[in-house]
Amino acid sequence: MLSDRIATLVRSRLLLNSIYLIMRINRIAHTQHSQLKDDADLSLMKPLLIKYDQKPGSLIPLLQGTQELYGFLPSGAFKAISEATGIAPADIYGVATFYAQFRLSPVGKNIIKVCHGTACHVQNANAITDALKDHLGVNDGETTADGEFTLESVACLGCCSLAPVMMIGENTYGKLNGKSAVKILKEIKNQLCTDQPKAEK
Ligand code: FES
Repeated sequence: MLSDRIATLVRSRLLLNSIYLIMRINRIAHTQHSQLKDDADLSLMKPLLIKYDQKPGSLIPLLQGTQELYGFLPSGAFKAISEATGIAPADIYGVATFYAQFRLSPVGKNIIKVCHGTACHVQNANAITDALKDHLGVNDGETTADGEFTLESVACLGCCSLAPVMMIGENTYGKLNGKSAVKILKEIKNQLCTDQPKAEK
């Protein structure tokens, strides 16, 4: 019956939303405080704060503009936005952590996206994330100390027939397991080393 099908669709949509929310909460919970950089030049925010001065409903554009400036939301930006808008820093933090588009720590030069959508999840995407975490020495959502790689769990990457899948930069890799994912990453690391300009003698 049509109503049963609609109910099933709604239930699966709710289930997927819950999975993505849990992924995001886990990532935020694992973000180390040491990664919350506070050395950003906050004077860069001045034009943005002037642009949205006294404009109601400007919190999201302010956060988006801040992220465009720095690539993430520096902790000092919460205070600056709070002073400009009168919104409590805790409330701003609440909004920033609710939306997946906002980052609380800098990203690496290369972002590794491991798909945890349904098709990849059932094909053991967890094993890929675990192997990459071990190899890189970071948790989900974190960046390596050299600033080269950020590891992220994401929702469907749109190529479910290749599940389980990961993307590094613009390249997609499918039918992976933990071992093959680490092998690909090692090859990319080697390539990056080869591409580094040689020091002049
Ligand atoms: S679920 Fe992973 S690509 Fe669609």
